[in-house]
Amino acid sequence: GRAPAGAWFAPGRVNLIGEHTDYNDGFVLPFALPHRTVVAAAPASGSRTTVSSAQEADVVEFRAAAVVPGDVPGWAGYVAGMFWALREAGHPVPEVDIVLDSDVPVGAGLSSSAALECAVGVALADLAGVVVGPSPLAVLARRAENDFVGAPTGGMDQMASMHGRPERLVFLDTRDDTIELTPFPLAEHGLTLLVIDSRAPHAHADGRYGERRADCAAAAAALGVRALRDATPDAVAALPDERIRRRARHIVTENDRVRDVVALLAGGSDPRTIGPALDASHASMRDDFEITVPHVDVAAEVAREAGAHGSRMTGGGFGGCVIALCDDADVPAVRGAVEKAYADRGWSAPVTFGAAPSEGAGRLA
Ligand code: GLA
Repeated sequence: GRAPAGAWFAPGRVNLIGEHTDYNDGFVLPFALPHRTVVAAAPASGSRTTVSSAQEADVVEFRAAAVVPGDVPGWAGYVAGMFWALREAGHPVPEVDIVLDSDVPVGAGLSSSAALECAVGVALADLAGVVVGPSPLAVLARRAENDFVGAPTGGMDQMASMHGRPERLVFLDTRDDTIELTPFPLAEHGLTLLVIDSRAPHAHADGRYGERRADCAAAAAALGVRALRDATPDAVAALPDERIRRRARHIVTENDRVRDVVALLAGGSDPRTIGPALDASHASMRDDFEITVPHVDVAAEVAREAGAHGSRMTGGGFGGCVIALCDDADVPAVRGAVEKAYADRGWSAPVTFGAAPSEGAGRLA
């Protein structure tokens, strides 16, 4: 009913490779999607902060000056958590009226939550007139997710949402949060990165993500290293517990695959050459880390058979999306083959779209 003081946005992300490495001090290689969450905000007309969303029926209210973990359940917890994290870091947080809209698919493993946190974060910082750099803001957004919402994630999603650039991958070393933007010239090589949303339901909060974290921590403790980032393949091979050994092997081999992919792309190789690393990553997530489900295994395998140069599940797992690196000309065949495989099994149709690296969070207007 009135003009906002401004509009800000933050994107979802796809991870090209480097899964579950971000809480093991390892390497990840995500990029920002063109899909965004947009925040329009203005100083509050009343004494409390109000939040409404084009995707939700309820209007949520809380006091920016006082909100603490446990106060705000559901989707608005990601918003309130950002107020809390900024306040905890000593930044001023004004009472505001916020309206949200988003085209980031929810529950698909494309980081709709990070997009929400980061969009609110850039809006609040701007409205309060404080300068918080993209990496510190990403760290606060992760804090909102971990300590306000209670999801025990790593920091990849928020860093990708803040640092994304067109035609660039965000190569992140999660030990010290150093970033190198790596070229990913899809169009120039006649390539499409097809995202196949399996529509299989996924969630972090259900405990399986946390179980994988616990297994990794147990492996690091058994090996006497600070994090699995520091483990050697030989030491991992000698771990006595079979399950812990496989979990650790995924992390160690996945870190190598991220570095191999970055070396290829930074060296100017044809992006098709990363295909085998994508396939190996999927096999490692399926067999060693055990985070895939039949919907994503079928999509990855069928995409490959139909001509993709490489394919893998992306994101936290137990559902979500598969990415398939395809020649532009092969996209209809790959899409059709996966749709047919799903129909043959009586599964609901997957949603597919081509995704190219896009701009990270900022001000729209
Ligand atoms: C989720 C988490 C990330 C990361 C991935 C797996 O997206 O939010 O921190 O751990 O899973 O790579």
